[in-house]
Amino acid sequence: MKISSLAGAAIIALATPMAVGAATGPLAWQNRALSADARADLLVRAMTLDEKLLVVTSYYGTQVEWNKYRDPGARRQSAGFVPGVPRLHFTPQWQTDAGSGVATQGVAVPDLQRTALPAGILTASTWDPEMAVKGGAMIGSEARASGFNTMLAGGVDLLREPGNGRNFEYGGEDPLLAGTMVGAIVRGIQSNHIITTIKHYAFNDQETKRTTVNILIDPAAARMSDLLAFQIAIEKGNPGSIMCSYNLVNGEWACQNDWLLNKVLKRDWGYKGFVMSDWGAMHDTVKNALNGLDQEAGVQNANDYVYKDKLKAAIQDGRVPERVLDDKVRRIARVLIASGAVDNPPTPDNPIDWAAHEAVSQTDAENGIVLLKNDGHVLPLAGSAKKIAIIGGHADVGVLTGGGSAQVYPRGGSAVHGEGPNRWPGPYVYAPSSPMKALQAERPDASVSFASGRDLDQAAATAKDADVAIVFVTQWTAESMDFPLSLPENQDAVVDAVARANPNTIVVLESGGPVLMPWIDRVKGAVEAWYPGSKGGEAIARILTGKVNPSGHLPATFGVTATDWPRAKIDGEEHGKETFDVRFSEGAAVGYKWFDKNHIKPLFPFGHGLSYTRFTQSGLKAAAKAGTITASFTVKNVGSIAGKQVAQIYVSPVAGGWEAPKRLGGFAKLDLKPGQSGAATVTIDPRLLGMWDSARPGWTVKAGKYRVTLATSAADMGSSVVVTLPASHLPAGRGVSK
Ligand code: BGC
Repeated sequence: MKISSLAGAAIIALATPMAVGAATGPLAWQNRALSADARADLLVRAMTLDEKLLVVTSYYGTQVEWNKYRDPGARRQSAGFVPGVPRLHFTPQWQTDAGSGVATQGVAVPDLQRTALPAGILTASTWDPEMAVKGGAMIGSEARASGFNTMLAGGVDLLREPGNGRNFEYGGEDPLLAGTMVGAIVRGIQSNHIITTIKHYAFNDQETKRTTVNILIDPAAARMSDLLAFQIAIEKGNPGSIMCSYNLVNGEWACQNDWLLNKVLKRDWGYKGFVMSDWGAMHDTVKNALNGLDQEAGVQNANDYVYKDKLKAAIQDGRVPERVLDDKVRRIARVLIASGAVDNPPTPDNPIDWAAHEAVSQTDAENGIVLLKNDGHVLPLAGSAKKIAIIGGHADVGVLTGGGSAQVYPRGGSAVHGEGPNRWPGPYVYAPSSPMKALQAERPDASVSFASGRDLDQAAATAKDADVAIVFVTQWTAESMDFPLSLPENQDAVVDAVARANPNTIVVLESGGPVLMPWIDRVKGAVEAWYPGSKGGEAIARILTGKVNPSGHLPATFGVTATDWPRAKIDGEEHGKETFDVRFSEGAAVGYKWFDKNHIKPLFPFGHGLSYTRFTQSGLKAAAKAGTITASFTVKNVGSIAGKQVAQIYVSPVAGGWEAPKRLGGFAKLDLKPGQSGAATVTIDPRLLGMWDSARPGWTVKAGKYRVTLATSAADMGSSVVVTLPASHLPAGRGVSK
């Protein structure tokens, strides 16, 4: 069988014969000449109550004994299965995690090996939406080739807590960047005629006690921060579904939160897809049903919730009108039909073009790895560096991946065994892509030595004997836990020992988010490689040797100490089973906005990323047009090698009055040869020029002067021009994003 192409254009042959074109009768909905809306309507009309109820509950998909609802129709190692409606030939839903590729549920044996795209935070670091579309298209094609029509990807909660164990799955701290990049991943995934999610809606910004934490946030600040990231991602990616989160928001569980689901998502944003719960995030049937939850996901235990049964009772005794169920089923059916998942059902176990897919993953990594520090041009490695010491991080065998439901087992399985928690969300999984071997292949003329880093003296001795020492440090992060910002397992001491032994020390970090770097002044170079995916070792080696010129930029601020952020410690550990409050008092001042507002100097600012060439940014012009601002400028590569620059536009009202001094208003990544100039024009989403107005729901842009700054990071003064805008008001659901 032919598998879908990367762009998802090729279609797999139909698995189920369908009565195409039936004009009347129960199968009339299959008429492909009709719109998805019309077909969904016909389908709902043809369904009995019990058939409708079949569509609103998903069962845990993995075949383990304790999964009471395991169904032979579910697909291997999967997170969810919604039975179809056989009488009407309506498709089952085969649901798989997650944002870096087809995941293996932690309890599943053997692992389902698939290509691991780098972590979401790395893809966000590319600042290149087209790159994200390609990555999404690749993992979506593997989902289809594995028999899935629903991918549980699209994580876009803002990086508000640097220690959040799931930051690696998300798109960083800024609503425009995160929304744009995650929306692009979603678009790519769905180009395979399957649907995906955006998750976890909303404010699931910490994992500690995620099922009982009640996030308190001012509703206007909410609209201007995490919710704006979701809104932009939805506009850009048009996801078939939204996954509501485990936590409470302003006193109500997210999956039964009328404000979040009915008012913001479905009314204000006009969202036409469906809302699925996170796995087991249900509480109250009537509230779930009436407040906007469409599909329960992940039932597994005998005492689990089972929406469909409770909903049936609620409909029969009149607490929930049947038309509410009809709307849910119609939403689910419509997106599955519109995506092509119904007419072109995926089948499992199709071959995968590993080389092509791993190349996509490697290119993503090469564009998202961030060169943080490069004193004295220690990088790229000089030809004169003939003895290279590599220390720590299992760099002799692989690169780290993030844990939990998003865990992808790359081809070949984990390169490291027996480390980390021995139960979910562990263990540590290393993609078998060795930076050391890749470096040796790039530099056959050099002698490369390795020390594990477990013995400080041995690490120092290995480093001392070399021209340059590269220390790999890792911080595993995972769903369901949060993490301290300091590197674990004595790795700071390893860096110190190596830096003392060798003046040419470079640190390569593999982390899921910001970490503290007490040694930064004592090393010459630092590279943030995040979790770089199936070919991360090759990507790192090519960046270190200069085969690839780094062009990743930070999608999140790196602070000096934990107290730089609004909360030095994530709250929750001490609480029992009862719900408890965490107030996001910083409101919309997330990340660099918080640092700016409080005059905190970061270790590395949002937007930061070095290159092996040099760029100038000039000629900034900005004009008010149609209620917003358009900025144009020129970037020139004034160095001697080709490279990519991420030019950033920040905006701020001259008179102040926002949640923070400035916001990212737009960005452009330009690929330039030595001596080449490139022009770019950026149109600012008008929501980024306004404040959410709760009294008159919508975005109010005040008349006045606005500063437009062309910069290379949130800490760069850059160059500015001032533009005068008239007052305007935008309704809640309208922006310029497509
Ligand atoms: C996670 C979701 C995931 C689901 C299914 C939950 O624990 O929060 O992100 O999609 O499990 O595996």
